Amino acid sequence: AGVKGTNQERTFIAVKPDGVQRALVGEIIKRFEARGYKLVGLKLTVPSKALAGKHYADLKGKPFFNGLVDYMTNGKAPVVAMVWEGKDVIRQGRRMLGATNPLESAPGTIRADFCTAIGRNIIHGSDSYESALKEITLWFNENELADWVSANAEWTD
Ligand code: PPS
Repeated sequence: AGVKGTNQERTFIAVKPDGVQRALVGEIIKRFEARGYKLVGLKLTVPSKALAGKHYADLKGKPFFNGLVDYMTNGKAPVVAMVWEGKDVIRQGRRMLGATNPLESAPGTIRADFCTAIGRNIIHGSDSYESALKEITLWFNENELADWVSANAEWTD
């Protein structure tokens, strides 16, 4: 997850299959780019049940766990998995997403602006440095993460 508290901090953000199906990928990328964050990982993938199970391991035992894993993995649409880098990106990413339940998300956040159902809340973001580290490692190989200098760096540092 990069280096916590620096411009190299990294978070894992995923557009879930409902967000992909609803053609919200561009809108979501646009918001992170416009904020000045740097895209360092990006792929379109249908995760295996094993991967989704590890990603949501904390939720095993919840009544919605099996449905959530099936939804993420059934291939009706892929997931857009991303790693974004920049200052305070883990916390700011969560703020940009809005509350998990879209009916509680503040207007202007991604969820409040585009959805109403908790089981179809279009996007996931790491909730802590530890989660970011775990999730980035789970979804990406090191050689899939790009090392590059964004022109935004001059304005976001
Ligand atoms: S909990 O119960 O507090 O541990 O869970 P929470 O942090 O609210 O949510 C964790 C993820 O579970 C998803 N979720 C659901 N999916 C489907 N159906 C229902 N009812 C449901 N409730 C919660 C929620 O969207 C979170 O997913 P991510 O991908 O992390 O945003």
